[in-house]
Amino acid sequence: MQTINIIDAPHHVNERVKIGVWLTDKRSSGKIAFLQLRDGTAFFQGVLLKNKVTPEVFELAKHELRQEASFWVIGEIHEDTRSKFGYEIQIEDIEVIDASEDYPIGNKEHGVDFLLDNRHLWLRSSKPQAMMKIRDRVIRANYEYFGDHGFTKIDPPILTGNAPEGTTDLFHTKYFEQDAYLSQSGQLYEEAGALALNKVYSFGPVFRAEKSKTRRHLIEFWMIEPEMAFMHQEESLEIQEEYVAYLVQKVIDDCSHELEVLGRDPETLKPFTQTPYPRISYDEAIELLQKGGLDVQWGDDFGSPEETFLADHFSKPVFILNYPKSIKPFYMKGHPTRDDVYVCADLLAPEGYGEIIGGSERETDYDTLLQAVKDAGLDPKDYAWYLDLRKYGSVPHSGFGLGLERFLSWITLQDHLRTTIPFPRMLNRLYP
Ligand code: 4AD
Ligand code: MG
Repeated sequence: MQTINIIDAPHHVNERVKIGVWLTDKRSSGKIAFLQLRDGTAFFQGVLLKNKVTPEVFELAKHELRQEASFWVIGEIHEDTRSKFGYEIQIEDIEVIDASEDYPIGNKEHGVDFLLDNRHLWLRSSKPQAMMKIRDRVIRANYEYFGDHGFTKIDPPILTGNAPEGTTDLFHTKYFEQDAYLSQSGQLYEEAGALALNKVYSFGPVFRAEKSKTRRHLIEFWMIEPEMAFMHQEESLEIQEEYVAYLVQKVIDDCSHELEVLGRDPETLKPFTQTPYPRISYDEAIELLQKGGLDVQWGDDFGSPEETFLADHFSKPVFILNYPKSIKPFYMKGHPTRDDVYVCADLLAPEGYGEIIGGSERETDYDTLLQAVKDAGLDPKDYAWYLDLRKYGSVPHSGFGLGLERFLSWITLQDHLRTTIPFPRMLNRLYP
C-alpha cells in the first residue's frame, strides 16, 4: 500500500492508500461519518460507513477525533463528483498520531487581531494556505525570470553601515563596538554587483522602522532588486513591465485555484499581462490630481489617496516618471535638462494597491554623488566604497525594487499587506 498526499489522489482512483492528515471538520448521521481532511497539499473528504469499519474506528471518527487531530487514514480513493476537488477517500482504518483539544480557530468568523495572535495556527486555514502557495509561485517566478535573462543573484548583507533610503526609519543595532543597521535595501551592494557581473538581482528581507500604521507598510518585507550595467532608465522600464507581466502570467497559469480561494477571478488579471504599461510624468500626475480636486502642490510626495486616484485613471499599472529631487533618495541620476527632478519612476498598481516598484537610473559622476551624500546628511566615510564605483570605470546603470507583499496584495485583492507574509512584523506586532 502506497503512502500518498491528497493532491495526488487523482492518480490513485480505486487504489488502497495511506495518507497522513489533520481533521478540519466533521459531521455524521447514524450509519455514516464524513471527515473533512487536510494534509497541506489539498483538502478533501473521508467517508466512513459504519458497516465497513470496526466499531472502535467508527466511534473514533464520530466522537473522539477533534479539529486538528492528526492521524493516518487508510482506504480507497474514489471519484466524488459533488465536491470541487473531485475525489474522496473511503476510509477503512484510522491510526491516531496525536489528539487536539480546544483548537482556538473554529469554522466561523474571527476578528483579524485574534487570527494574527494565532497566526502559527491560522496558516493551516484555506485562505492563508492559498496565499502561501501563490507567494511561493511568485518567488520561483523571480528566479526563473532573472535566471533566464542573464542575471546573477548577488546576496547583499543584512547588517550594514549605510542608509540608502533615508535615516528616519533605521533599525539600529550594535555590531560589537560599531553601530550598524538592518538593511533597508540591498541596492547599493547590487550596484557593486552590476559593475562586477553586468546584470544582477537580490531577493531578501529588508527592514523599515516606519512608525506609520498603514495597510501598505510592513516593518519587515521582502524585496527583489535588479541592477543593470550599461543601461539607461528607458530600457529598465521595459524590463520592469515585461517582468511584472511575467509574474502575473505565471500566477494565472499555475494558481487559478488559489486565486479563486482568495476571491480573485483569474480573468481579471489577464489585461495586466499585456505590455507596455502607460507612463506619465510627475508633473502630469500633479495636474491630474489638481484637476480632480485633490489638495496637492508640486513637490509633495504621494500618499494612498493620490496613488489610488492616479491608478484609477488607467486600466493597467502606470509608471510615474521624474519625481522632484526633494522627495527621493540621493543616489538617483539628475535629469539631463532639468535640475529639479531625477531620472526615476514608480510603478503604481491598478485598483488602488499603491506603489509596487520604485526605481531609477543611478548617478554616475563621482563629485555629484559625493555632494549628494553630504547633502543627505550622510557621512562620506561610510559611503567611500560606494563612491569607488564611480572612480573605476563608472558606467550608466539602472535598477529597481519590487515589494513582494505589495505585488501579492494587488494580485490577490488583500486589503492589508499582513495577510501576504507568513508572520507579519508590524508596528505593534512581534508575536508570534
Ligand atoms: O521605493 P523603495 O523604498 O525603493 C528602494 O528601496 C530602492 N532602493 C529600490 C531600488 O531601486 N533598488 O522600495 C521599493 C518597493 C516599493 O515600491 C514597495 O513596493 C516596497 O518596496 N515597499 C514596502 N513594502 C512593504 N512595506 C513597506 N514598508 C515598504 N516600503 C517599500
Ligand atoms: Mg518608493
